[in-house]
Amino acid sequence: MRDTLIQARDLSRSYSNGREQVHVLSGVSFELHRGEAVAVIGPSGSGKSTLLNLLNGLLPAERGELQVFGRAHSDLTDSDWAELRRTRIATLFQDGNLIPTLTVSRNIAFRAGLAGVHRHNGDALMERLGIADTAQRYPDQLSGGQRQRAALACAFAMQPQLILADEPTGSLDYATAQRVAPLFFDAIRERSLGALIVTHNPELAQRCDRILELREGALHPWDSALSS
Ligand SMILES: Nc1ncnc2c1ncn2[C@@H]1O[C@H](COP(=O)(O)OP(=O)(O)OP(=O)(O)O)[C@@H](O)[C@H]1O
Ligand SMILES: [Mg+2]
Repeated sequence: MRDTLIQARDLSRSYSNGREQVHVLSGVSFELHRGEAVAVIGPSGSGKSTLLNLLNGLLPAERGELQVFGRAHSDLTDSDWAELRRTRIATLFQDGNLIPTLTVSRNIAFRAGLAGVHRHNGDALMERLGIADTAQRYPDQLSGGQRQRAALACAFAMQPQLILADEPTGSLDYATAQRVAPLFFDAIRERSLGALIVTHNPELAQRCDRILELREGALHPWDSALSS
């Protein structure tokens, strides 16, 4: 039987904008298994980042059912979610998530240490991502693309079982973005990582096992014929 990391059924979420309630997600259903990469595409404002934050427990769903690592959302306490985010679920946020008072190298060591990974491969990750020369710099001394790569190195150094990545190549030029996909696919092959990748990068999306499109509040199998 396949090991299911995420099982979502009919997840809904709205925001109140003043007097108006805006329904962003209105029935998201999908599954993600170990060793699988799923790309999520969709226009700006369609709810992709909102969805990732439902899946990492930072935002509660209003309706629907969610199981993560086989545990029902309703059974997970705040500290259960914190433990999952510390050790098993890495989220790559759209605007980066580095600690401003630590150098890149220390950010990586800190993140890995929190996850219980004491012999981390941060140096190799920085090398692969082309940011070895930034190891001793602080986040505010980096370009947007360097920050994005440092956040990727932190996420992979913690050796998570599940990565929720919000446009991991969004700030990178073409050649640099090419370095990112192998990180995901090597970890999927070597450690059966599961990855949900929000991306506008067609090559990264095409390498995933499935592409889902977030449209009108729900996820649909992406049909390239409809989009061309
Ligand atoms: N805290 C909030 N309060 C009110 N509205 C919000 C809030 N967060 C997001 N929204 C709205 O919800 C919708 C979905 O936002 P979300 O950030 O999930 O979209 P997205 O698909 O990630 O977009 P992008 O591709 O631009 O990152 C948008 O219309 C946004 O303005
Ligand atoms: Mg977003």
